[in-house]
Amino acid sequence: MKALTYERHGDPRDGVVKKVFDPRPGPGQLLVRVVAAALNPADWKIVEGKAPFLLLPRRPFVPGCEAAGVVEAMDSRVAGFHVGDEVVVSTGLGGALAEKAAVSALHAVRKPGNLSFEEAAGIPAAGQSALQGLRDAAGLCAGRRLLVNGAGGGIGTFAVQIGKILGAHVTAVASAGKHELLAGLGADALVDYRRTDFAKAREEWDVVFDVVPNRSFGECSRVLSREGVYVTTLPGAGPLLASLGASFRSPFGFRKRCRWVILKPRGEDLAQLVGWAGEGRLKSVVGRTVSLDQAAWALSDLSTGHVTGKTVVGVA
Ligand SMILES: NC(=O)c1ccc[n+]([C@@H]2O[C@H](COP(=O)([O-])OP(=O)(O)OC[C@H]3O[C@@H](n4cnc5c(N)ncnc54)[C@H](OP(=O)(O)O)[C@@H]3O)[C@@H](O)[C@H]2O)c1
Repeated sequence: MKALTYERHGDPRDGVVKKVFDPRPGPGQLLVRVVAAALNPADWKIVEGKAPFLLLPRRPFVPGCEAAGVVEAMDSRVAGFHVGDEVVVSTGLGGALAEKAAVSALHAVRKPGNLSFEEAAGIPAAGQSALQGLRDAAGLCAGRRLLVNGAGGGIGTFAVQIGKILGAHVTAVASAGKHELLAGLGADALVDYRRTDFAKAREEWDVVFDVVPNRSFGECSRVLSREGVYVTTLPGAGPLLASLGASFRSPFGFRKRCRWVILKPRGEDLAQLVGWAGEGRLKSVVGRTVSLDQAAWALSDLSTGHVTGKTVVGVA
């Protein structure tokens, strides 16, 4: 089969599409013929060596952690799927930018017929990061005020909509060119970060979801409500210290919290998101679709940090 491959860390544009061995379904796995796969910042970070795991997980490394396609074969112990089923899958750290991928059946759900393969492929990583960031890390619930910083990209476009589904009032922070899209996705208020610094606003939010992420708990603390939560997509020493600092101040009445999201692919979360998409409540925003031959350049473009929605690679 053909796949986008990398032999060493470096420029995402150095990726080569070449023939590699077909994967075989291991215990509990499906073999999926990939129709579309989607790109994520984790892909270029692994390729550039900027991810916490410094080694390429496998050589040649095939990037891509999400895809949609058709089940071609499966381990005999897998129940609930059939050859020919159209599915949406999380593939783990890599392997999606290929004609075939072997994936755990636990991380696969059936694709609704009214969802294209391109739309479906963009859901798993960004959708689950948004869902787990808002529902689990922030504990967002109805009636709360949510601000999404970096609302126009992969996670952000899902976060705005999931915020609305969970019943929040949603402020979306993005460049002006994305405001019309975000209003269409349900954002109640819009901030152009090139003109206005939300962290200096005279408003308060119960949850600030720093998707970009380019702010800190300290910077956002002023605009958090009394028991407000700041959630970042970049765990590390800064958020850990901020979280500890907030805990130490809690006996003195300080109730604001600093949290982070670490994506955990879960079949039930994927099923929830795909279910919402099938019902028309959640839109998978495909900003751009490219071919497998163009995927290395698209990955480089993603690394500039200003894409709209999801970049999808048409594989079949
Ligand atoms: N912790 C985890 O488990 C986890 C999981 C997935 C992703 N992530 C991380 O989450 C981050 C976001 O992922 P993503 O998929 O949403 O990325 P993305 O698709 O590349 O989107 C980033 C968005 O940020 C916006 N942006 C850039 N500079 C901005 C600024 N100064 N202020 C406000 N918005 C700005 C960009 O749009 P405009 O500038 O044009 O408005 C773009 O739409 C990445 O760093 C990724 O590595 C973490």
